[in-house]
Amino acid sequence: MDHDLAHLRAEYGATPLRAVDAGTDPMALFAAWFAAARERADLPEPNAMSVATVGADGSPSARMVLLKAVEVERAAFTWYTNLESRKATEALRGGLAALCIWWAGAPATDGVPGRQVRMVGRVEPVARADAAAYFARRPEEAQRGAAVSRQSRVIASRAELDARAAALATPITLPDDWGGLRLVADELEFWQGRAGRLHDRIAFLRVDDQSGLPISAAGVEAAGGAEALEAAGTRVSDPHGATWVRVRLQP
Ligand SMILES: Cc1cc2nc3c(=O)[nH]c(=O)nc-3n(C[C@H](O)[C@H](O)[C@H](O)COP(=O)(O)O)c2cc1C
Repeated sequence: MDHDLAHLRAEYGATPLRAVDAGTDPMALFAAWFAAARERADLPEPNAMSVATVGADGSPSARMVLLKAVEVERAAFTWYTNLESRKATEALRGGLAALCIWWAGAPATDGVPGRQVRMVGRVEPVARADAAAYFARRPEEAQRGAAVSRQSRVIASRAELDARAAALATPITLPDDWGGLRLVADELEFWQGRAGRLHDRIAFLRVDDQSGLPISAAGVEAAGGAEALEAAGTRVSDPHGATWVRVRLQP
């Protein structure tokens, strides 16, 4: 392997992400970007995203999962997993997580921009009935895998896992320790790669109905504080009744 990777560098396109493109509804923008990613033959898993969680001692961890449902009305994103896994335990204990999706660009061929979407928000478990309905639609092999794996825990050998899978009787119903997690976003950030590292970033911070302030204290702090955010941002209302501060962030 080449250990010096300094020369690895992709150039992004010239297409801008303007405030007018971002509009007043972050989920409409997400839907448009997701639809564009789905159309690309070179992105076989456009719903792959990382989930970041924080352990009891404050240590972070991240891993990929597959986005399996989107609720535009609530700005909510669902994935399925083992509910006793590290990610689920940490997300449900602290009640917060962050997601990140990256759709690599292909500017050399057709000018497709590289795009990243980040979300931060509250995590809730998906209702058991909904998880059961989704589980029933999974291929049997995937059901089997979910049913035999105590995700995140140690196991003596691969053979033990295979033996467990082979011994499982069908039909396989929803395991007690398996289900869905849903992140309701209080922050969404849309990043579009631009030339020369001067990328475009537009963030939406959800405003609390009661206090009239952005819910995400960390998002406010990172943006430079409440005053700077209000001065540079625009308050927008989405068609689902949520208010957001839309703001451009430096890249
Ligand atoms: C592209 C991709 C998609 C994945 N999708 C899922 C998923 O939807 N659910 C899941 O539990 N693990 C998924 N995994 C595996 C996780 O990355 C991870 O290994 C596993 O969930 C255990 O994580 P944890 O021990 O930190 O909880 C996926 C891995 C990759 C590379």
